[in-house]
Amino acid sequence: MMRPYNIDHVAIAVHDLDQAITRHRELFGAEPQWRELVAEQGVEEAMISIGGSYVQLLAPTGPDTPVGRFLESHGEGLHHVAYAVTNIEQALEDLRVAGARLVDERPRSGGRGAKIAFVHPAAFGGTLIELVQLPDD
Ligand code: CO
Repeated sequence: MMRPYNIDHVAIAVHDLDQAITRHRELFGAEPQWRELVAEQGVEEAMISIGGSYVQLLAPTGPDTPVGRFLESHGEGLHHVAYAVTNIEQALEDLRVAGARLVDERPRSGGRGAKIAFVHPAAFGGTLIELVQLPDD
């Protein structure tokens, strides 16, 4: 069983990325480490470092995207929790064997050059889980 070694990030879906960044600055004095458009996922993200983990602010590039549809049905708020793993292929295989429903059968590319894959919320009490393998792991 491939155990996650860190909470890589907690992702919050927002309508307006600039506004959310400003709010984080005002409330917590926190600045984004970087900001990136991940076109293939229809999302723009900003990563704010807090301790050894990040808060990932996610804003959709349009309404017909995964985060756009999430905002439509849930409004702003917690979108997913990302667990860092050292071998994402093995982690997906372990989850499959354990009977967890996967969103991604195979890893795809996320921000920071990471490999990512999503596990269906049904697998874990209604919370969408992301697996992340960072490029230097
Ligand atoms: Co994420």
